[in-house]
Amino acid sequence: MGRLAGKTALVTGGGNGIGRACVLRFAEEGAQMIVADFNPEAAGKVVEEVAAAGGKAVPVTGDVSDEASVDQMVAAGVDAFGGIDILLNSAGGGSTRDGPVTELDLDEFWRTVRVDLFGTLLCCRKVIPEMVRAGGGSIINISSLRAVIGTHGADAYTASKGGVLSMTRAIAMQWAKHNIRANVMAPGVVLTERVSAFIKEDNPIYRKSLLGPSEPEDVASLALYLASDESRRVTGAVLRLDGGASIY
Ligand SMILES: NC(=O)c1ccc[n+]([C@@H]2O[C@H](COP(=O)([O-])OP(=O)(O)OC[C@H]3O[C@@H](n4cnc5c(N)ncnc54)[C@H](O)[C@@H]3O)[C@@H](O)[C@H]2O)c1
Repeated sequence: MGRLAGKTALVTGGGNGIGRACVLRFAEEGAQMIVADFNPEAAGKVVEEVAAAGGKAVPVTGDVSDEASVDQMVAAGVDAFGGIDILLNSAGGGSTRDGPVTELDLDEFWRTVRVDLFGTLLCCRKVIPEMVRAGGGSIINISSLRAVIGTHGADAYTASKGGVLSMTRAIAMQWAKHNIRANVMAPGVVLTERVSAFIKEDNPIYRKSLLGPSEPEDVASLALYLASDESRRVTGAVLRLDGGASIY
């Protein structure tokens, strides 16, 4: 029996990077997967990978920052598997248009707030009622080490991920009575294809990672713990996955 046998999980941004690694790991542990992404080819490919390994997954295409789109993705997922027990919000990420508040591209500020923060809010908003119906659930949101320690050079992203962190704690407080847990992962550098394309070894978080940067599979291992009943008494937690960068 897998650690997530009998559960259904929706992963946003499931087509690439951390989201993809979580989809594959959760499916390996027996979860039925709803792979949400605005890139249909990427989502479709991950669904094929799950099926090839003997698991069950459906793709749902849409934009997490658009309410109607989130409605439709959640409804399609519930139609496919009857409910949702686990929500992992991975859609998002910073960009090189970010910077210090005095210099950053203001459109980039709203883009990151819309996708990373508002998108996470919308998905929680639509999935929580499903979890209440199911008698509980686990929400896993992705913030960033940038929201936990002082960093510089990506102030829009940092602000947005700070919002994700605080909102997740508020969700944990409000829905504990429905047996819904909500936790935050705060990764340092994770070598996804997107980040590998621009990260440099002199990046302060990269440089201070005592154990080196993480791979997407490292994040998936932590997410699996938060998704499974092994973490049944853990809620409102902020778990750093930074190779020790924050204690450097
Ligand atoms: N990689 C890192 O170093 C790192 C560190 C800390 C936090 N994070 C966070 O982890 C999450 C995943 O990062 P990643 O590196 O795996 O990114 P990625 O670019 O590899 O994957 C993100 C996926 O999300 C999808 N997506 C983006 N915007 C979307 C939207 N509006 N609606 C639906 N799908 C959308 C993309 O199509 C892509 O498949 C992000 O929230 C990022 O901020 C990443």
